[in-house]
Amino acid sequence: MARSPVLNVMVQAVMKAGRAMRRDFGEVEQLQVSAKGPGDFVTAADRKAEETLFAELSRVRPGYGFVMEERGEVAGTDPDHRWIVDPLDGTTNFLHGIPMFAISVGLERAGQLVAGVVFNPITDELYTAERGGGAYLNDRRLRVAARRDLVDAVIACGVPHLGRPAHDLFREELGRIQGRVSGIRRFGAASLDLAYVASGRLDGFWERDLKSWDLAAGLLLVREAGGFVTDAAGGDAMLARGSVVCGNEAIHGQLLKLVKG
Ligand code: IPD
Ligand code: CA
Ligand code: CA
Ligand code: CA
Repeated sequence: MARSPVLNVMVQAVMKAGRAMRRDFGEVEQLQVSAKGPGDFVTAADRKAEETLFAELSRVRPGYGFVMEERGEVAGTDPDHRWIVDPLDGTTNFLHGIPMFAISVGLERAGQLVAGVVFNPITDELYTAERGGGAYLNDRRLRVAARRDLVDAVIACGVPHLGRPAHDLFREELGRIQGRVSGIRRFGAASLDLAYVASGRLDGFWERDLKSWDLAAGLLLVREAGGFVTDAAGGDAMLARGSVVCGNEAIHGQLLKLVKG
């Protein structure tokens, strides 16, 4: 597997932030938390990882802009390139000592996602994708699962937490989907849900009310692993609408129908 220079830059930055996050996992001082809203926390680890990613990525590609969960948007001098960064996806898991979280970095060029990295520093699983170049888990090329019928499928979802809208909508979707699939999972890190679809561990995933940084890298992983991805209305405005439905072509089609109702 040959990685482009820019993907190497992303991998180096993400691994550096990930090594520190792994050391800090479970350490009391990293658990200093503040709440951004009901059910929405930020820890010292989120901020530290964001600092590292910002410093590393801007050192190697000084002109690129950023959209980052904790800092927000940082304009660059290069209007064509933008990093989309979630420094710690799965903060609630991190806080509870559950080893299911990741660092997610996507790169947009002229409005198109061209590279993505999702890294779980606890399992040492590094997911990478480049537009047209396939998706990988460490050195292994990925392909979405082959199951074609929802009755055989394991599907992940997101459950709106306290302070989020769309609780009723979620209950309706779950009501339609739950009796028709072989299993439903809620892992709590959207970037890993997408990476798991790309690697064939999960057959599909749907969620609403996500942000561009939850989705960017993972969307590219699923596409490059041969999967189908749309927003919850069946369009391709996933980043703008913050919703996603994905799987292989057959599972995506069946799941989307049930999500739409
Ligand atoms: C959260 C996770 C979670 C999803 C939430 C996100 P964070 O991201 O991706 O799975 O359900 O909507 O906010 O805040 O842990 O980076
Ligand atoms: Ca957050
Ligand atoms: Ca996130
Ligand atoms: Ca986050």
